[in-house]
Amino acid sequence: MLIAVCSVKGSPGVTTLAVALAAQWPQAESTRRLIAEVDPSGGDLAMRFGLSATPGLVSLAAAARRTHGPGVVWEHTQALPGRARVLAAPPGGGHARAALSTLTATPNGPSLLHAVAGEAGVVVLADCGRVDPGSPAEAIARRADALVLVTGTQGDDLAHTAARLGELAGWTPRPGLLLTGEGYPTVDVERELGVSAIGRLPHDPAAAALISGHRRAPARRRGSGGLARQTAALARALATPAAPPSVAAPPQAHAVGMVPGVPAQQVRHQPGTTVSTPIGHRPSIPPLRPPMPVPPLGNGLSRNGHQPSTFGKEPLP
Ligand SMILES: Nc1ncnc2c1ncn2[C@@H]1O[C@H](COP(=O)(O)OP(=O)(O)OP(=O)(O)O)[C@@H](O)[C@H]1O
Ligand SMILES: [Mg+2]
Repeated sequence: MLIAVCSVKGSPGVTTLAVALAAQWPQAESTRRLIAEVDPSGGDLAMRFGLSATPGLVSLAAAARRTHGPGVVWEHTQALPGRARVLAAPPGGGHARAALSTLTATPNGPSLLHAVAGEAGVVVLADCGRVDPGSPAEAIARRADALVLVTGTQGDDLAHTAARLGELAGWTPRPGLLLTGEGYPTVDVERELGVSAIGRLPHDPAAAALISGHRRAPARRRGSGGLARQTAALARALATPAAPPSVAAPPQAHAVGMVPGVPAQQVRHQPGTTVSTPIGHRPSIPPLRPPMPVPPLGNGLSRNGHQPSTFGKEPLP
């Protein structure tokens, strides 16, 4: 299974989420878990976990020109704590982008990770970083089984997300919008974006620091916490095979807010109305209302509307 994790603005915690999902993947002992840093702006995990600069994305890009089998990918990975592996990108954006561009321009290059992810008992978490238009990571994200778009919940985050949501939703069969941090309440974000979120990660610097390999995490603030619990729930949902087709859910229907194991959610055009996706038509995400009217709030609604229990209302198993 190949899961692309990405953002469209800022640093909402894509890399942290990829590491957390790998660490908390169900049946982790019997699953080969690979975090592939395919972020063209550069990698962080070698630095965070004290790994060597090589092997990694740069050495794989060179090797992929000579070797075509997916096994070559594993040769360029390094071990992370907890027995996950990482394909580490160099920290410099120039080097990382060049390596990624080389890899994706190589015949079979873009499908290498897909081929690895297709092996039994393997999950690849592709950290695509910020997928600006023209990002070389797009070729990899488009081959993913599921895409998780991570976004902050402040007005500027949401305006950028609204502008790209429809496009990104068409990249994979199962796109999902994941909210994070403090900002507008989930229910307001969903209403304004016209889609359901697959969850909301809390602002939890202490847990995030531990996930990021820092030994000394910042002290926990009152009311913070819960990141590990939420990412574990998300990992379980992503790992659950897609529900079999049913009469109620056309087999080729796609919608934002869908991830494997999460019941199909309908995209809302207008309050109170829903749409079904036409069979065989892709991308099938109905146009969102651009631009998002931000901020329509301030009429008594709290901007700091993060509610730790929000995830519980999501249709996770
Ligand atoms: N849920 C969270 N709560 C609090 N802090 C977080 C959370 N997730 C991540 N962080 C922190 O935010 C910072 C950025 O996280 P991370 O590197 O995962 O973001 P990113 O989206 O991958 O950024 P970039 O696009 O720059 O690679 C790190 O210091 C990380 O520890
Ligand atoms: Mg990152």
